[in-house]
Amino acid sequence: MKHSAKLLLILFVIFILSACSMQMMNHSSQPQQNNQIETKDVTKNQINTSDQTDQKFYNKPVVAGEKISYEIIAQKSTQEVVKGKSLNFYTYNGSVPGQEIRVNVGQQVEINLKNELSEPITIHWHGYPVPIDMDGVAGVTQNGIEPGETFRYSFKATIPGTYWYHSHFNSAEQVDQGLYGAFIVEDEEQFKLDRDYTLILDEMNSKGKVGSKGNMMGMMMDVSNYDLFAVNGKSAESIPAYEIETGENVRLRFINAGYMTHYMHLGSIQYKVVAIDGQSITDPTIVQNQLLAIGPGERYDIEFTAPDGSFFVRDMLNDPAAKNLVIPLKNSTSKQMLAEEAFDGIFSLTETRLVTNYPSLESETIDKEYKMVLSHGMKGMGMVYTINGKTYPDIDPLDVKKGDVVKVILENRDPMFDHPMHLHGHFFQVLSKNDKPIKDSTIFKDTLLIKPGEKYEVSFIANNPGAWMFHCHDLNHASAGMMTSVHYEGYTIPSHIDPTQAIE
Ligand code: C2O
Ligand code: CU
Repeated sequence: MKHSAKLLLILFVIFILSACSMQMMNHSSQPQQNNQIETKDVTKNQINTSDQTDQKFYNKPVVAGEKISYEIIAQKSTQEVVKGKSLNFYTYNGSVPGQEIRVNVGQQVEINLKNELSEPITIHWHGYPVPIDMDGVAGVTQNGIEPGETFRYSFKATIPGTYWYHSHFNSAEQVDQGLYGAFIVEDEEQFKLDRDYTLILDEMNSKGKVGSKGNMMGMMMDVSNYDLFAVNGKSAESIPAYEIETGENVRLRFINAGYMTHYMHLGSIQYKVVAIDGQSITDPTIVQNQLLAIGPGERYDIEFTAPDGSFFVRDMLNDPAAKNLVIPLKNSTSKQMLAEEAFDGIFSLTETRLVTNYPSLESETIDKEYKMVLSHGMKGMGMVYTINGKTYPDIDPLDVKKGDVVKVILENRDPMFDHPMHLHGHFFQVLSKNDKPIKDSTIFKDTLLIKPGEKYEVSFIANNPGAWMFHCHDLNHASAGMMTSVHYEGYTIPSHIDPTQAIE
């Protein structure tokens, strides 16, 4: 190669690398430093109430005795995310998010999933502890459902709360393409609500690009191209107004189906965090002007008494696309627009007293202890995301036996990225943060946002035999290595399951 050509090549590589690292710096998501409320925004003050979804077709569930059945068809569809921008999606029942699956506690849930796409799919019940053969993980608990085939998921709903469902076959791409929806298990608490809105957050690309498999070029091109932040498949001025009336009991169920942490500002109203990852908080305290930091895969349910006026719920993430995620809560009995103050902090999971109905595992004797150090590295021209320096499937599984109390130390030594870690099939208690024990709280979660430099101790009871995935819910990180499993003694993955599908 000629000298000048070589020099040009080197310059080009340096340019690419610096562009990448700038992109990556951005990537551990932070709320806007400049704590100022934009007065001008896409929704103006013109709130109108329109349809909540674009549901193309809705299959009414069939209830027979204790059984509730849903028919879900996976198919391609288009949806107008923002005026003039119809994007192509993979959908469950024709829309993004897919049809909400809502059941009562005590019901036997039956979902018939028909695949009308041209590649295999599954449904995983994120956060809901189903029996292993119903967990929907291609390559681990079942094979992907082939085009034209139907698969029946069946399990009993025993734990109320806000969960969600999504494909777990090539999930980094398929979830990005729209294969997700809410899964809500109701109990009698539901009767106290006047309004109950599910708000699924996601990031989209106005040119219809989907997930990168974590290589540097891909990351640079794709992640920075999430230029539309969406709620329930709508962005900017296409986000409908959610109606309230003064004095009503309102619940908002936030679900983060995207790959970025979103920081929601509730427009200065007083609210209570009533459930985290589906599990109710028994004695919630009143919060105001604190952002809810919702990591990928996490859920936060909040409740408030509707104030005498309208307001906006805004994403305060420091990203230009956050301006597209402004949700109008329109009071139809009052003309007032409520004044909005700047936020003065982030709701703290570990410094708020958060009590659930679960007994604390704090003083239990630990049977097994594991440590997972989270980081990233390079492999050839690609990025890999590592647990203890290794990538799936070379990471040692967490071996347990039924009845064990298992402690896991999760440490994010990655200087740049948030790693929301998700365990299938179980809830874990958050015991400490940065070596400081969490007193007086019994927080049980299935997904835990771990920011750069943070270290948490969690523990869970091994009470659901199987082989359960434990991975980062930035699914691009999972597909580029950050994934392992909890493996029960005496359990073998059925031999008809093709393990290569787990790394699709
Ligand atoms: Cu929601 Cu294995 O994931
Ligand atoms: Cu991650």
